[in-house]
Amino acid sequence: MVKIDWEKLTFAFMPTKSNIRFHYADGKWSEGELTSSYDITLSVAANVMHYGQAAFEGGKAFRCKDGKVRAFRPDENGKRLNSSARRLLMPEFPVEKFVEAVKTVVADNAEYVPPYGTGGSLYIRPVMFGTTPQIGVAPSKEYELVIMVMPVGAYYKGGIKPVDALVARDFDRAAPLGTGNIKAAGNYAASLLSSKHAHDNNCAVALFLDPATRTYIDEFGTSNFLAIDKNGNYVTSESQSILPSITNKSLMTVAADLGLKVERRKVRVEELADFTEVAACGTAVVITPVGRIFDGDKVYDYHLTEIGPVLRKLYDRMTGIQYGEVEDTHNWTVECC
Ligand code: PLP
Ligand code: COI
Repeated sequence: MVKIDWEKLTFAFMPTKSNIRFHYADGKWSEGELTSSYDITLSVAANVMHYGQAAFEGGKAFRCKDGKVRAFRPDENGKRLNSSARRLLMPEFPVEKFVEAVKTVVADNAEYVPPYGTGGSLYIRPVMFGTTPQIGVAPSKEYELVIMVMPVGAYYKGGIKPVDALVARDFDRAAPLGTGNIKAAGNYAASLLSSKHAHDNNCAVALFLDPATRTYIDEFGTSNFLAIDKNGNYVTSESQSILPSITNKSLMTVAADLGLKVERRKVRVEELADFTEVAACGTAVVITPVGRIFDGDKVYDYHLTEIGPVLRKLYDRMTGIQYGEVEDTHNWTVECC
């Protein structure tokens, strides 16, 4: 067994036993190859270095109560990777082959999956990028898909303790009809400055508005926006410039299972004053409650010292399914080993 202090895990990079790699050339993807190396040999003229033809994904696998390791909805990651690939003119990767690759790399790294009860998980990070050396602006001819895994704990310090957010009024994270709805690497580079601005103002995360009008709430730099209104309804943003979050999609189902009304709609910034609970949701952040949101001189304060009661129920049901404590009635989990 590897020596890791499971309780102290954060969201830091850590090499593990292996990653799995596929190469695309002459119109087809290779068979996967497990390797212990984290290095690649790449020309400085490779497309990805200049024109950023690159997309990634994020998923998780969990050591369950019965000792088995299960990945959470890896098919959804495969489908979203393909939607990113289509938008960036990269080749799609067959979803079934993707799920098999996830199972293979998770199983090969079983000793790195945090034990049940520690609150940790194995983060799954696929990345696809264009490798052909070229200087004209055109899609690459060859590509690499690497799926790496690493044990992780909470993304934000303090686990599910409330964090503060700053409304990004400096830059937008995506153009109105740009790449905001895919996991293009460039979106994240473009969000770094606003995130730094948030951090400089003692906020953990930036909250972006719709880039066309800056009237509606889009999403956080790391995650989707969700709120509970005064009637106990689940409210989340509908926008063309946000990532279709697998966590949010799953939570909407869980919320409906728990009897909550789900509203996926445009959310005006001023509505922040009316919500009783607000959170960021995503694979990495799970459900992270938001205590205060700063927007210029305005402060929206939810007076939280811990996660609120409705979000707590959603959190418990969702993580219960992931850790195999609650029946997986939607068949979301995939056994890896
Ligand atoms: N929005 C952004 C910008 C993200 O980076 C993420 C993380 O993947 C999400 C939303 C949440 O998506 P998911 O729940 O699929 O992880
Ligand atoms: C994820 O949640 O998987 C992401 O990719 C978000 C990133 C901020 C770590």
